[in-house]
Amino acid sequence: MERLNTPSEDDFALQLAALAWQLDLGVTEAIGENPIDRFQTEPQVPQVAVPPSPKASLTPVAPETVAPDAVAVAARDAAAAGDLAALRAAIAAYPHCELQKGARNLVFADGNPAARVMIIGEAPGRDEDLQGLPFVGAAGQLLDRMLAAIGLSRRAADPQSQVYITNVLPWRPPQNRDPDAAEIAMMLPFLQRHIELVAPKFLVLMGNSACLALLGRSGITRLSGKWAEVSGLPALPMVHPAYLLRTPEAKREAWAALLELRMRLKGNQDVENR
Ligand code: URA
Repeated sequence: MERLNTPSEDDFALQLAALAWQLDLGVTEAIGENPIDRFQTEPQVPQVAVPPSPKASLTPVAPETVAPDAVAVAARDAAAAGDLAALRAAIAAYPHCELQKGARNLVFADGNPAARVMIIGEAPGRDEDLQGLPFVGAAGQLLDRMLAAIGLSRRAADPQSQVYITNVLPWRPPQNRDPDAAEIAMMLPFLQRHIELVAPKFLVLMGNSACLALLGRSGITRLSGKWAEVSGLPALPMVHPAYLLRTPEAKREAWAALLELRMRLKGNQDVENR
């Protein structure tokens, strides 16, 4: 007697044939025709639409623009991280930031976490995404030269001259667009925990995104070189080296900010040597 396939066996054979046909056609990526709203697979929470404009980052970060659970999960996971390795693992496992899906690498930090100076940039670009390290492209090379001008380096042997570098976002935004308000808000608890764990003497906020995330304001040409406070630490906004590459005339502001930093570091060293 002829054996009848069950519907699921028929489905399976059909799907296998369809897959083989697609492979013959040269299909290499397994993606659906319709976009999947991955938030719908999470427990349902009301979401407020985030404006798609890249200029969104130029307005203060409003936590209500992100699904409340995304920020709460980040705050819970960040607080549970007892050291930098655990924090890195918590960021890698964080499911709510879509940027991770398009990034090649998580860019966590570079330099010595025992350094007196912690530099906060914006987000990885192409080179950083490829290498998994912050500030390694053209802007990073300029940053290294700026730091060297005041005797600092991420590779210095002397602890007084070392720096530690991270970014507001650990994943590259597509086409290097500005981080949006929702991305900044959901990754902020990780950044704040990062600062807490490193506990530097001084923070340097490179560019508008870092100022927006940690000071709640932007307008870097006005803020640059003027000390502010972040979580009880002295924080110095500075024009971003990528901006300096496009706008060399802003080097004067950058130099003034670097001299400010050098002066504070010298004062700190004198106090510690007493
Ligand atoms: N710009 C940044 O802000 N961070 C990087 O890591 C690279 C470029």
